[in-house]
Amino acid sequence: MAPSEIDLTVYPDECDAYGHLNQAAFLALFERARWEMLARGPGMDFFTRQGAWPAVRKSVVEYHAPAFPGDVLRFSQVLVHLGRTSFTLRQTARRVRDDVLMATAELVFVCVDQQGAPVPVPESLQQMMADRQLPGNLRRIAVNGVNLAVDVRGDGPAILFIHGYPLDHTLWEHQLAHLDGWTRIAPDLRGMGQSDAPDLGYSMATYAEDLLALLNTLGVDRAVVCGVSMGGYVVFEMVRRARERIRGLVLINTRAEPDTAEGRRARDTAAAQAREGGAESIASAMLPRLLSKSTRSEHPELTEQVRRMMEGTPVAGILGALGAMRDRPDSGPLLPSLGDVPTLVIAGEEDQITPRDRAQAMADTVPGARLAALPGVGHLAPTERPETVTALLADFLAAVGRAG
Ligand code: MLT
Repeated sequence: MAPSEIDLTVYPDECDAYGHLNQAAFLALFERARWEMLARGPGMDFFTRQGAWPAVRKSVVEYHAPAFPGDVLRFSQVLVHLGRTSFTLRQTARRVRDDVLMATAELVFVCVDQQGAPVPVPESLQQMMADRQLPGNLRRIAVNGVNLAVDVRGDGPAILFIHGYPLDHTLWEHQLAHLDGWTRIAPDLRGMGQSDAPDLGYSMATYAEDLLALLNTLGVDRAVVCGVSMGGYVVFEMVRRARERIRGLVLINTRAEPDTAEGRRARDTAAAQAREGGAESIASAMLPRLLSKSTRSEHPELTEQVRRMMEGTPVAGILGALGAMRDRPDSGPLLPSLGDVPTLVIAGEEDQITPRDRAQAMADTVPGARLAALPGVGHLAPTERPETVTALLADFLAAVGRAG
């Protein structure tokens, strides 16, 4: 099997007059890393054996920090889209010494034969990329024209976990590892984590349709759905579309009302920032608002993990989510009608993005809903207070019951 990471050293002859690694030389290092992975895995003649050669149709490189001679860079890659004859790889280069993100590259390949005619992506290439890309319990499941990376664990009645923006399913690690007796399903939404990131086609409706199709594919008729922040917006959309399939609702660090005019303008500003500065600039801007002050000072490792999650999000997915959030409908009118759906609301007392009073308003409006407000917690309760959130969920699931 090909290794998942390759370390390469920057040489003086790759640098410009100022001593920086030259941009074209950097692109060549991305290519070197791909070849090196083949050389140490299935062999450099892999494509010749397949009769299909991946030709680059488009490459987009973002340079985040200058590299100098002697720097050792760690290259890794993930498959972000798999089509019939084409696929897209996202490569990242981090400086080994301090783990700083130096550059990211997104490359679209078309497989061609010896005459240059497009041919289907060979099964063995798909397999090789899928094997390497999906660690642990992750599976790649095709729904609605995209491949979603999905963590599925356990058995029993189902609970679906929906992460927020611009994050991925690893936010739910503690809840996935516990809550035995339930089938825990945590996808990466399209455009985030290791799921495909098409250029277009994002809306709350699309995310919800993806997840309903995912439940179909997994043979799940009804599920408890649990969303954090933007995941909560998706939950509301699922309720609108398929209420009969929802056994219970858990709404964490989220709100029912749509964006204000000012909020909508802020989405457009953030989109311009993402286009200009990439995922890294979004991560730097969001991090102080996502986690509470105490989480940031007491858990630097968690802060770093969340930063990396955000930095790993493809720009297409960031732009798609920003547009989907900006245009989402008002879910307020839905709330009073949810009396027949058991509902738990969880808030962070220090949440700057979806403040506690928004959560309180939701809990007051859904008949029978219960609010748990967590002191010292910001916008990401499942990962800032994992044990508490898991315990709250365990109690809630016990009350919902296993049948039905
Ligand atoms: C999220 O965490 O999913 C987003 O920050 C929510 C939002 O911006 O409305």
